[in-house]
Amino acid sequence: MRLREKRAMVTGAGQGIGRSIALKMAREGADVVIAEWNAETGDQTKREVETLGRKALFFAVDVADQRQVREMVAEVLKIWGRLDILVNNAGFDRGATLLKVKEEDWDAVLSVHLKGTLNCIQAVASHMIENRYGKIVNISSIYGKSGGIAAISYSAAKAGIIGLTKSVARELGRYQINVNVVLPGLILTPTIAKMAEKYRNMIIERTALGRIGQPEEVANVVAFLASDEASFMTGATVEVSGGSSM
Ligand SMILES: NC(=O)c1ccc[n+]([C@@H]2O[C@H](COP(=O)([O-])OP(=O)(O)OC[C@H]3O[C@@H](n4cnc5c(N)ncnc54)[C@H](O)[C@@H]3O)[C@@H](O)[C@H]2O)c1
Repeated sequence: MRLREKRAMVTGAGQGIGRSIALKMAREGADVVIAEWNAETGDQTKREVETLGRKALFFAVDVADQRQVREMVAEVLKIWGRLDILVNNAGFDRGATLLKVKEEDWDAVLSVHLKGTLNCIQAVASHMIENRYGKIVNISSIYGKSGGIAAISYSAAKAGIIGLTKSVARELGRYQINVNVVLPGLILTPTIAKMAEKYRNMIIERTALGRIGQPEEVANVVAFLASDEASFMTGATVEVSGGSSM
């Protein structure tokens, strides 16, 4: 129960890695805000958190929309009066090679990952500064470090999240706010389950552990970074990739 009495917000928590993070945080004792634009899956995760005996709030928001994010955080603070942890996980890809990237896809992918992460951090920062306490964990990808074929917008957005994390870590460190970034490798989520087996196997072949990761294996690391056990870690990039990128 490393997160006993803490209040966490997890974006994109309707399925996959975000859902696992929300459930792991609940098991560690935290109450959880589910910020997810899919009303059905978001509500489902909310009920799963409650089944674990913790409080949960669900907001159907688009993290790329600054107004929606600010209104959500204001409402959470009105209801709970406190937010200790923010996990920026929401995202999607619209894969394309360099010459085929469409402007609207570039904008959409950068918006959800990069602007979405900025929006949420901005919305919680004053509150965390006032409390002299906060844990922010951003979800990037190994593609943010190494690049990926047919992942132009995605790799750029995920690299941006690494730079954003480090800048925010420098700015907020003096207030005892820890800001770290996790770089997952290939993780078996509903979205990745739809990927052609041929491509999945190509990535697995390059992975030292020789297998795909499970969402819980990312959630465990995020929960650690969000806990006081990681109190002297900030600005760190933590790879959870089974050794696919070293
Ligand atoms: N699965 C992997 O192999 C992998 C690897 C590296 C990084 N990641 C990153 O981890 C995160 C989660 O990945 P996943 O595989 O669980 O994805 P997923 O597609 O299974 O789940 C993402 C969730 O985010 C929600 N979401 C998307 N856009 C949103 C928006 N604008 N506002 C609110 N909610 C939104 C979706 O509805 C969905 O519930 C993403 O940031 C992804 O880029 C995943």
